[in-house]
Amino acid sequence: MNTIKRNSTALMASFILMMVVIFVLNGALTKSVEAAENQNFPMPVSVNALMVTMIDHSAHYIWDYAALEDRMLEDEWLAVEYYSIQLAAAGPLMTLGGTGELDNTWAMSPQWLSSAMDMTNAAMKSLNAARLQDKTLLETAGDELLDSCLACHRSFKPDIPTEGVIHDPLYDQLYHLFQREGAL
Ligand code: HEC
Repeated sequence: MNTIKRNSTALMASFILMMVVIFVLNGALTKSVEAAENQNFPMPVSVNALMVTMIDHSAHYIWDYAALEDRMLEDEWLAVEYYSIQLAAAGPLMTLGGTGELDNTWAMSPQWLSSAMDMTNAAMKSLNAARLQDKTLLETAGDELLDSCLACHRSFKPDIPTEGVIHDPLYDQLYHLFQREGAL
């Protein structure tokens, strides 16, 4: 009799536990489905941080290799390809706004969108240059890239970044990961 009682208590306990697990899982699932339906997946970082850690970093690989006087090695073209892809994707990312105080205001401006597009187009040109291993094309892409940064900075960038994030000294050791004669 006791065994039956113990067994049924254990059965009841596992049943309750199972219900709790299902309840929690269901709640989590409903939340992410709701977020997906509302397209509510806000950028978790700021434009300032993205500029410094991703955009500036990737762009420097393109410029520094474009300025290299030696013939570029296979791996170096591959690095340019890699960073061009990052930079091309960073354009649309910038149109999503961010956590910085002005990020969402900037993202609503048509001029912001057009500068972000210019940056992505220049990065796609650099990607093409890398795939063709064409140095002249890389240089042209680098010039167009610089124009796109400067045009947007002239219109939007405050003198001091809103969050004070700059690569020097914060991330300085991560820049210019390659060292070669002739590199900037
Ligand atoms: C669509 C507009 C836009 C484009 C394109 C853009 N930036 Fe920015 N960038 C900004 C804004 C706005 C800030 C300031 C953010 C803040 O203060 O919150 C900024 C800040 C920065 C910063 C950090 C601040 C500093 O002074 O060090 C760096 C570095 C930077 N940008 C590099 C670049 C580079 C390199 C490119 C091109 C490859 C580029 N940006 C393209 C808008 C842009």
